[in-house]
Amino acid sequence: MKAVILVGGLGTRLRPLTYNTPKSLVPVLNKPFLEHVLLKLKQHGVGEIVLALSHLAPLIEECFGDGRRLGLDISYVTEKSAMGTAGAVKNAAEMVSDTFFVLNGDIFSDLDLSAMLRFHKQHRAKVTIALTPVDDPTRYGLIETDGYQRVTRFLEKPRPEEVTTNLINAGTYLMEPDVLGKIPALEEHSFERQLFPSMLKAGDAVFAFPSSGYWIDIGNPEKYKQLNFDLLSGKGGQYGFNRGDQIALGHGSHIHPTARLKGPLMVGDNCTIGKDVIITGPTIIGPDCRIEAGATISDSILWQKVTIGGGCSFISSIAARGCRLEESSQAHGAVLGDNVTVSQGYVLKPGESVEPGVTKG
Ligand code: GDD
Ligand code: MG
Repeated sequence: MKAVILVGGLGTRLRPLTYNTPKSLVPVLNKPFLEHVLLKLKQHGVGEIVLALSHLAPLIEECFGDGRRLGLDISYVTEKSAMGTAGAVKNAAEMVSDTFFVLNGDIFSDLDLSAMLRFHKQHRAKVTIALTPVDDPTRYGLIETDGYQRVTRFLEKPRPEEVTTNLINAGTYLMEPDVLGKIPALEEHSFERQLFPSMLKAGDAVFAFPSSGYWIDIGNPEKYKQLNFDLLSGKGGQYGFNRGDQIALGHGSHIHPTARLKGPLMVGDNCTIGKDVIITGPTIIGPDCRIEAGATISDSILWQKVTIGGGCSFISSIAARGCRLEESSQAHGAVLGDNVTVSQGYVLKPGESVEPGVTKG
């Protein structure tokens, strides 16, 4: 079984984390986000993956290669310029010949893909769209169905007064290969704004597969943090953290005996945690980080090679690769892009977002 995964978006809402890192590679539990998605697909017998790339494509290809490391067969199609969601799949048309999955590359869910495939076959659908309930459908694609689970309306990013249901497009489709014949070649084209509405108009068999399990779109830093903390606490899948209070330490990491650590906490390889440091979970620390004497960290995510200086306070914040907080500086609700420096004693504004490479203070 094959899946085409859309991973070409710009990830603008996840900035400043996604200037140099595509959304699919932002670390989740110290692994690239997409790795979790790929392993879920594998669990459901989806072994052949096509990644539809555009923005920062070489980084993604370099990360996953031919997929052997994960026991998958991964190939790539790269657009010269972004072709839109449907255009990107059209671009991969030569690589599909049977019923296939399409996934938005920024979704993590525990959707039962095997049950979805059975549903698709039973309904002889051309397209099956997974549905999930959300509080605010205006940021998503709203879907109305009839009593037989047939889609009657697809409305992308509805205005508040247009909201008639809390069910939205969960970003996972099953498709018959002949659907690709309806997408114009070499043109930008959207599933949500063009193909699906026009298929509905034509009376094509588009069905909706309801689900109510774990579902998250890592669209912004808050959601990104939530996914990390949920998986760390054992929600959303089998990731080994099922007691909610565990501490996982990577190889070669040194913890000073006076440091106080409270889980759920994950510390990557080759980290140093100094004297009297206090770390409270949920917190994830990437490889090669240095937490110096007396620093306090809680509810936070550090990527690789981050230094938190002595006496610093780093609360509910995210620091991307190579950030350095000098002694006694403070962050609360901050999101720091790659290689940000916060000078000695500087206090970031609550919720401040800092572009890569900037020195504050
Ligand atoms: N290759 C490629 N080329 N991928 C693209 C392109 C493109 O031109 N444009 C977007 N993508 C990828 C993004 O990287 C993302 O993984 C996926 O397609 C969806 O794009 P987003 O930009 O994240 O869309 P959204 O979150 O506003 O809305 C979509 O997802 C919602 C669920 O989270 C829509 O599909 C909604 O209908 C849906 O409810
Ligand atoms: Mg999205």
